[in-house]
Amino acid sequence: MDGLTPRALEDAARAFASAYPTGTLAAAFVAGSGIALSAPGWEKAAEAAYAEVFPFPVAELPGHTPTVTVWRKGGAGLLVFNGRFHLYQGYSAPQVAAIPRLAGLLGAPVYVATNATGAIDPAVPPGSLVVVRDHLNFQGTSPLLGEWGRWRAPMFLDLTEAYDTRLRAMAVRCAEAAGFAVREGVYVATLGPNYETPAEVEAFRRMGGTVVGMSTVQEVIAAHHLGMRVLVLSLATNLAAGIAGRPLTHQEVIEAGQAARGRLEGLLQGLIAELTREGA
Ligand code: HPA
Repeated sequence: MDGLTPRALEDAARAFASAYPTGTLAAAFVAGSGIALSAPGWEKAAEAAYAEVFPFPVAELPGHTPTVTVWRKGGAGLLVFNGRFHLYQGYSAPQVAAIPRLAGLLGAPVYVATNATGAIDPAVPPGSLVVVRDHLNFQGTSPLLGEWGRWRAPMFLDLTEAYDTRLRAMAVRCAEAAGFAVREGVYVATLGPNYETPAEVEAFRRMGGTVVGMSTVQEVIAAHHLGMRVLVLSLATNLAAGIAGRPLTHQEVIEAGQAARGRLEGLLQGLIAELTREGA
């Protein structure tokens, strides 16, 4: 066991709620890959470093302190997590799932995650956004293992509708309103931190995968387990290994992420407006 118990996480959520009043949360967002989300028209009411919030050791990253921010407008609130925990960093599945679980314990009804991916489907050009409709979990683990499966029912969680249909439609609408098209697809999750082999990418393509990445599915399972409605937006930063016929670099992933940032942020801002307008 990694030491993160349900009790410790519940205590952390209680401590967070008393230190940082959130109002009635409309949604929680987790932004990967250097996407910093702000909410125009909302007030940034609080910001806390992950190391102060989560009851387990948080790895230091040079030049980057992951934080959670609370945004308020009247009685309404938003939680924005800037940065996530990855299995490839050595975190356990329950630690990776601590972000959505904290959000769920604080009352967020909606969990929106963004991530960077490689395109398995050659028809998905780098720089485009994919609304995830389903996943293939090749990470070999689950956040419901052990005591976490007993924490909340059901342990044998149904994932037929893990990716909320109405939120997916809302994302497509918001992208159109922001002036660009998105398509739906299947996210393949690998452990990382190495990229895939060309043979793996070819196998994933035959299995129905659209994009491949090293995150998010543990969060999705945990968020769905707590009854949150889930939306995942994948930015295709590159063609996956073997598709482009040349090696991948981390640098191209970073650069494509930065290039597409404006569109992703426009889409997220539309989502915030819709989610808070009608209680979705
Ligand atoms: N594979 C896995 N994860 C990724 C990729 C990729 O090609 N690009 C960005 N994240």
